[in-house]
Amino acid sequence: MAFFTPPEVQHFKEHCYVRKAPVVDRQLLDRAADRFYDELPVDRNDPSSFVGVEPVTNLKAGSHPDVEATLTQSPIQQMCEELVGHSLEVEAHTFAKPIFPTGRPASEWSHPESGHLDGHARTGVVKSFTVAVTVNINDVQPRAGGFTVWPGTHRRAHEYFRTHPLADGLKAFQADDDSFVDLPEPVENPGPAGSMVFWHSLLMHSAGNNYGTEIRMVCVSRFKRTDIDQIELEFPEDMWEYWAL
Ligand SMILES: [Fe+2]
Repeated sequence: MAFFTPPEVQHFKEHCYVRKAPVVDRQLLDRAADRFYDELPVDRNDPSSFVGVEPVTNLKAGSHPDVEATLTQSPIQQMCEELVGHSLEVEAHTFAKPIFPTGRPASEWSHPESGHLDGHARTGVVKSFTVAVTVNINDVQPRAGGFTVWPGTHRRAHEYFRTHPLADGLKAFQADDDSFVDLPEPVENPGPAGSMVFWHSLLMHSAGNNYGTEIRMVCVSRFKRTDIDQIELEFPEDMWEYWAL
């Protein structure tokens, strides 16, 4: 592997995610952040205007060339292809996701109680993909909305899908009353602008709770194998059969 060391590969297999240092030029990150601010109903020079803004899921800026450049003018897709060992294509475009500060003190902070699975979150709707990358577009402090993962949940989801339909993936983690059962301790991933998390499509994840003072800005890009139509219903005993790991 050219991009990932053996310990990083091992971490990915065991925990379903791995952090990497920045590979996107700082100028591209700063331009992308500018496009976030263009769309947000805040005064970027007045942090008090960031607090309590109505949440938005994905900004239109995700399809702006300045934001897409953080993906297309970087080796991120090659890095994903190294993990998967197969050609990939981007699903839609990168998703530009802000999380506004709540205004609550960091001393009261806690992790979200649970997360979701992309592509399996809505009953009856399935959008299969293979691997994703979350890139911090600005500096993300601890307890300030960092991308949060529930390590190892990919194994539980994979086992569940071996015997259940794809249509309601969160059931992999729930009791009959829909309460979540035996979730691992989540891990938040703050870091400087450009820092990244590569994660398996079946990893439970969420934005963290933002008890900081800045708007958390990340871009999430999802990639699918170019042959995913042929294999998306397959959940082999070896869950890494369609990976290079
Ligand atoms: Fe998600």
